[in-house]
Amino acid sequence: MIANDSTSPGFPRRPLGLDGARRGLHFGADYNPDQWPREVWAEDIALMGQAGVTVVTLPVFSWAHIQPGPDTWDFEWLDEIMDMMAQAGIDVDMATSTASPPAWLTRAHPEVLPVTRTGDTLWPGGRQQWRPTSPIFRRYALDLAQRLAQRYGSHPALIAWHVNNELGCHNAFDYSDDAAAAFRLWLRERYGSLDALNEAWGTAFWSQTYYDFEEILPPRLAASEPNPTQLLDFRRFSSDALRDYLRAESEILREVTPQVPITTNFMVMGDGNAMDYPGWADDVDFVSNDHYLEPGPGAIDELAFSASLTSSIAGHRPWWLMEHSTSAVNWREVNPPKRPGELARDALTHLGHGADAICFFQWRASRVGAEKYHAALLPHAGADSRLFREVEALGASLKGLAELSGSDSVRARAGIVIDYESWWSLTQEFLPHTHLDYRGQLLEWYRALLDLGVRVDVVSSRDELGDYDLLVAPLLHLVPQALRERLEQAVEGGTHLVTTYFSGTADENDHVLLGGYPGALRELLGVQVEELSPLPDDEQVRISGGASDAVGRTWCEVVDVTDESVAVLRRYEEAPGIPGGTPAVTRRQVGAGSATYVSTRLQDEALGALVRELAESVGLGAELPEAVQGEAIASLRRGKDADYWTLTNRGRKALGDSRDVAASLGGRLLAGPDALGIGDAVVVRVARD
Ligand code: GAL
Repeated sequence: MIANDSTSPGFPRRPLGLDGARRGLHFGADYNPDQWPREVWAEDIALMGQAGVTVVTLPVFSWAHIQPGPDTWDFEWLDEIMDMMAQAGIDVDMATSTASPPAWLTRAHPEVLPVTRTGDTLWPGGRQQWRPTSPIFRRYALDLAQRLAQRYGSHPALIAWHVNNELGCHNAFDYSDDAAAAFRLWLRERYGSLDALNEAWGTAFWSQTYYDFEEILPPRLAASEPNPTQLLDFRRFSSDALRDYLRAESEILREVTPQVPITTNFMVMGDGNAMDYPGWADDVDFVSNDHYLEPGPGAIDELAFSASLTSSIAGHRPWWLMEHSTSAVNWREVNPPKRPGELARDALTHLGHGADAICFFQWRASRVGAEKYHAALLPHAGADSRLFREVEALGASLKGLAELSGSDSVRARAGIVIDYESWWSLTQEFLPHTHLDYRGQLLEWYRALLDLGVRVDVVSSRDELGDYDLLVAPLLHLVPQALRERLEQAVEGGTHLVTTYFSGTADENDHVLLGGYPGALRELLGVQVEELSPLPDDEQVRISGGASDAVGRTWCEVVDVTDESVAVLRRYEEAPGIPGGTPAVTRRQVGAGSATYVSTRLQDEALGALVRELAESVGLGAELPEAVQGEAIASLRRGKDADYWTLTNRGRKALGDSRDVAASLGGRLLAGPDALGIGDAVVVRVARD
């Protein structure tokens, strides 16, 4: 049965981490030698040496090569490449190869294939054509994992196991009969009885009452909008089903090779298919993440956001960047290359946020298959290329940064809270506003905080919230009792919390909390709202009390102050249906902290001004030298004898001589270009006495 983990409080139960200090930082890529003739292998290994590659992930998609039929196995090629790696001194993060089952398996057992919401089968021909809940798939896949563990468990090249690959990248939501059966068991465990399920799902509505667990289905395409709690529970279940699969492989690997650490690559910023990664982190020995740069303005802010979130999920211990791209990807509508320098900038920014391994998809650019136009370390043009020279330079630079490996990230004083369940609940239809864009809103607040010249952590709602002086939790839609208490305790203890409209509105079952919005946070904030007033995208409201011309979009509300300790920081001037002078932003002093409510989506300067005001009032002064304040994203790691700052130019102007920047932090330049130009990053070492 799939364990019901979605509501576990979720602090890492055991320390995460791999002994990164063993070899310094890791640098490498997915390596797919079986997609190339053998003659190429020796050249690959020679060039890997030239580039300073220390680790490869293989064989991610090689099941069909390793097991040509149900009872036939071919490990020879893998033995050979593993030995070549060991001889070359390159470590292997060994994938269990279970991500793409071979055609003979899906032909014999089409019942392992996932089924979409509309009842379509996802046929072979691509990858990830498997259901996490399929007993047949598991039988074959776990057998493969076990054989790999037995064969390579003590191989000198092996340093880690890599379960499957990007679990849920394409098969996150499966609506098959296997999934239906597993979903029912999961629901039985969660609710114990049908009465409790009917209550939690609010099935009195629209005659949805269940009288037998067998009547329950995944939320397949229905005649109208499905039950919201069923949708939310299906997201939880889908995350738990993949997590259970991760555990199943891990159990086998741990049994055979207890000494080898296990990871799997998360996608913490995945929009449609982000899983409960803060929970999953409990099941891996070290956290890994994949990140692909979003081209366009603000790209580097988004990258830092992802890196910081990964660090929080990893418990602020080192983690691995398992995949990013040296240049273009192949899966956007238009796929521009990275410009010179951006490769190093992206890598160092991840490193600054705690990455102990800088890895890419993939070593050698494919000449066949769906990813042939995806960049790699070794491009189609070969080693005599601008890109490969940048790869070599990065390899050299990482060698020089070896002393950072194993060092933890130092928490910032300011944090942005991400809550995956709130995110999931806001992806539903039938909301007051369907363009709320949870991820986008978090990024807006993140950018406003970065503009202050402070370090900012992106923290999971399961992290230690009370460790932050200023904590922003936008659109925190679902607030179960336990989260409410943790927020209240944090504020009592001195955290200054900021939250926005449509927060605290519902509990863990997505039931609206009665008595007025923002429900669970009403008392803490000292305000009450009777009616939600979302705004069409082309409308705006005017606000007074801060920067002139303050404008809000997306949402407005008639906010009633219910507690005399509440100060009104901003008021509505012009807003549809709202009397002029109505509070728009309020702040209540509570214990040693405060709770601020922002009832509209403040735009640019208005948001910046509010954030500045709040930061000043809590004594959160700029942490960075004046010349780079707001212009550089800063992250900090603490080593044995030194602190390591990484500064990334966010791309608006050149920031001068890198050595001067390093000196202004009281340290010396460890990596990065001579000048901190647009699109550059530097690492600075500050010795500690
Ligand atoms: C990832 C995947 C890799 C590769 C890459 C391309 O999602 O894990 O195998 O496909 O995307 O960007």
